Amino acid sequence: MKEKLQKLKVKISSFKLKDMLSFKNLPLRRDKAIDAASDKDINTSFPINNNARELHPPVQLMVISRIIERETAGARSLLLKKADGTGAAWFRAGQYVSVKLKIGESYVTRPYSISSSPRLTKDGKLYITVKENPGGFVSDYIMSKLKEGDKVLVSGPEGQFYHDSLRDSKNVVAVAGGSGITPFLSMAYAIRDGIEDFDLTILYGSRTEDSILFKSELDSILEETDNVRVIHVLSDERKEGFESGYITADLIRKYAPDDYSLFICGPEALYRFMEGVVRELGLPARRVRREIIGVSGKMVSSKDDRPETFHDLTVIQGPETFHIKASSRETLLVAIERAGIMAPAKCRSGECGWCRSKLISGDVIIPEQNDRRRRMDKTTGHIHPCVTFPAGDIVLEVPRGDMPDD
Ligand code: FES
Repeated sequence: MKEKLQKLKVKISSFKLKDMLSFKNLPLRRDKAIDAASDKDINTSFPINNNARELHPPVQLMVISRIIERETAGARSLLLKKADGTGAAWFRAGQYVSVKLKIGESYVTRPYSISSSPRLTKDGKLYITVKENPGGFVSDYIMSKLKEGDKVLVSGPEGQFYHDSLRDSKNVVAVAGGSGITPFLSMAYAIRDGIEDFDLTILYGSRTEDSILFKSELDSILEETDNVRVIHVLSDERKEGFESGYITADLIRKYAPDDYSLFICGPEALYRFMEGVVRELGLPARRVRREIIGVSGKMVSSKDDRPETFHDLTVIQGPETFHIKASSRETLLVAIERAGIMAPAKCRSGECGWCRSKLISGDVIIPEQNDRRRRMDKTTGHIHPCVTFPAGDIVLEVPRGDMPDD
């Protein structure tokens, strides 16, 4: 036993000696390795990082390649093409992009659902459609000022309004009103192109046959796939081949299969109407999805019957401080943009958190249906200015938005 320990001791000592010699020679070996190394730059471009950048670009510079006027529906579609000729970011059918514009001295963003097939992204293309909104600051500009050849900045694809086979039924019943058809048109194209695999039944409400947006596009999709159905529902006229009235629970039951997910996208009035319909249908919450981009400001201001008042809004942005006025009928984000201050924003409906800012002092109103802040943000006084209205003088710390030069 004693002998064994003795041998073991000798072995350990030998390793230590080797270690010490090796350590002593380390600087020599290191210098040799440095002398022998190539003086070329180390490769820092990895395929995985390049793929991630292509899939999630913070911004894409695009050219308005074509404008399609849809006068009877009071809308215009813009075909946007990547300015550098490369592919556009891939998206899930139903997602939106945030368009960044400089109008006069104001920097603004607006979310628009993509209405084309994801397939077009490989050619660097996507379509968005803008509905006229008389008096609307950005929609007026897009409807009357933008022309073919103009350049615009758009974000990468955003939003959760797409079919997810783990979460949603294989059957989707889509309720659309007006320009709310755009994400469903994209889904229909994606099904036709074999990119998405679910059955889509669209109940599409319009006032009259003439005012139906994308009627011919929907008709041609129906000829190419059996997995999409479209039922037009006219509120202001009765015609053979069309349903008339509103999209009620009975109408949904008439066309829906046994198991389905209900997707809703449209103007404010449609969302309000559908609240009762969803209750009547008794669907579990996980089976109901609502697209909510850009609806908040209107929803709140139209419900607010207090007289308009103006408050002092102090905006702190890094080393700069701005003193501006904010109307009680506009969100803080609108006041900030109107004053020409660049603030980050994407969804404009309280969902994405992109505009998250720190409320230093002041009273605000945040409509319950748009308050999607994290619980911690509520305790630390962070707000989403895109859905927050002033109820007194405000001091707000806002991150700086980006508007890269082209
Ligand atoms: S822009 Fe998305 S939360 Fe404000």
